[in-house]
Amino acid sequence: MTDALAQALRLLADHGDARPWLAKARDEGSLMAAALLDAVAGEDERNAYDAPRAFEVFIRAGGNPPLYTAVSAALARLYEQLGVRCLLDIGVGDGMALLPALGQTRRAPNTVDVIEPSGLLDALRPRLPAGKAWQLTLQAFLAQLAPERRWDLAQATFALQSIAPGERLAALKRLRRHVTRLAIVEFDVPAFKSADERFASLARRYELAARGYDDEAALVAGGFLAPMLLGQLRATTPSNYEQPIAAWQDELVRAGYRVAATTHVHDYSWAPAWLIVAKA
Ligand SMILES: C[S@@+](CC[C@H](N)C(=O)[O-])C[C@H]1O[C@@H](n2cnc3c(N)ncnc32)[C@H](O)[C@@H]1O
Repeated sequence: MTDALAQALRLLADHGDARPWLAKARDEGSLMAAALLDAVAGEDERNAYDAPRAFEVFIRAGGNPPLYTAVSAALARLYEQLGVRCLLDIGVGDGMALLPALGQTRRAPNTVDVIEPSGLLDALRPRLPAGKAWQLTLQAFLAQLAPERRWDLAQATFALQSIAPGERLAALKRLRRHVTRLAIVEFDVPAFKSADERFASLARRYELAARGYDDEAALVAGGFLAPMLLGQLRATTPSNYEQPIAAWQDELVRAGYRVAATTHVHDYSWAPAWLIVAKA
């Protein structure tokens, strides 16, 4: 089933007609193929974060609860170790990683500012402690930021992968002037030797992700995973510019940071999640 899906992904990436392969994969039982067929039929330009319900279900079920438990615990420990007073969360989503971290740390920051471009911020606003929320991308936020604004720690959990690499490097360089440390949590996805290997891996991992949702699989696959996968294949927004953890470390170094620690956080079906803490 994922062989046919992988063939379809290759065609989608090349803007070819993937429908026969998608139909084959769907008939073999692929949830992602069914969702992609719908998306292609509707020439769907949905943003993965514009259907907040699908993303909210996605991160609250499947393999995500233990992942987020581990991420929040790692962040909570970090606030204690570093004595963080001013915290900035970049691409905070609806606070799934941030709020439990703040709830369990023994040294909560005095102010918590957040940036989130999508409507996910609406759900978070009423639950935020002292601080400010900007509905902006990181790039737009940095463009309007006063030169003297500073945070002890900026954190970004699974958010920097949403930004195209060129823009991301520029933003990370700019951010460096405003933070003492940057902590990122990202997946250590494999490096691929060939395009075929990449399409096979994407087919396998997206299908596995969709399978964890029982009755809500169609919502998650159609409303979140399919737009994300299409963006990733076609390098359009929304996308997932994921990379191996070694590449994240290199990117931080290229942006002028010094990597202080890289710690394994959780083995997730998609790929293992790691925390990188870097000094600005
Ligand atoms: C996978 S979600 C992670 C959300 C949250 N950090 C968490 O761990 O649950 C990626 C987030 O990055 C946000 N995002 C996308 N593009 C962004 C950008 N250019 N700047 C900041 N955040 C962005 C999305 O809206 C989304 O909320």
